[in-house]
Amino acid sequence: MRYSDYSEMARITYDNSAEKYHKNFKNEMEEKEFDRLFLDNFSDLLPKHSLICDAGCGPSGHIGKYLFDKGHKIKGIDISPKCIQIARDYNPELDFEVMDLSKMNFADNSFDAIISFYSITYTPKKYLDLIISEFHRVLKPNGIVLIVVKKGCLDSIDNNYWDEDKPVHYCLFQEDEMKELLLMNKFKSVTIETRLPYDFEFNVDRIYTTGIK
Ligand SMILES: C[S@@+](CC[C@H](N)C(=O)[O-])C[C@H]1O[C@@H](n2cnc3c(N)ncnc32)[C@H](O)[C@@H]1O
Repeated sequence: MRYSDYSEMARITYDNSAEKYHKNFKNEMEEKEFDRLFLDNFSDLLPKHSLICDAGCGPSGHIGKYLFDKGHKIKGIDISPKCIQIARDYNPELDFEVMDLSKMNFADNSFDAIISFYSITYTPKKYLDLIISEFHRVLKPNGIVLIVVKKGCLDSIDNNYWDEDKPVHYCLFQEDEMKELLLMNKFKSVTIETRLPYDFEFNVDRIYTTGIK
């Protein structure tokens, strides 16, 4: 199968489950102190009023919104038109666009930072260089990427994701895989932090990987 077969499965899955995802996750930052502190520190590393891409922003756009409230400019992108429609309605002050992570319609050196929470997960590992090299291309020199994924060993199709009866590819990662992925795509100063799941989350650790262009 080609890359586009997998991204199309992600689009169908998220067009289908966008409302449900939004209902469940739009307020999650209130309960995730680790994420708030992590993003506070991330924001402090950036120039004031940075331009940040929320890559795979989902229907709530709430992670970009957290950084918007800290004074940054946000461009949220997602492959699912339904997610983008809900994200626009929910955050009228933010800028959103339908876009594939592997074909970002931005010039080289556009962004001060990219955040990507749980969105590279739907692409088989053999195609992930297409996305990470694109992140590298659109970041400014010394720009920072933050990628968050779930920890584990998985790289296969899930036929019943979210009980939706729709196939989608799903990956879990190890810390060394994430580090390698960024280093292979020319990022430097790659750092990893892993946290335990909250009791209301799916019961696997979360890996936070940052790298500098
Ligand atoms: C689990 S949701 C995460 C949404 C948001 N980042 C969050 O943490 O709540 C994954 C999102 O990634 C998007 N996505 C998956 N593959 C994508 C791709 N190839 N290009 C753009 N968006 C993609 C999906 O449509 C979905 O909205």
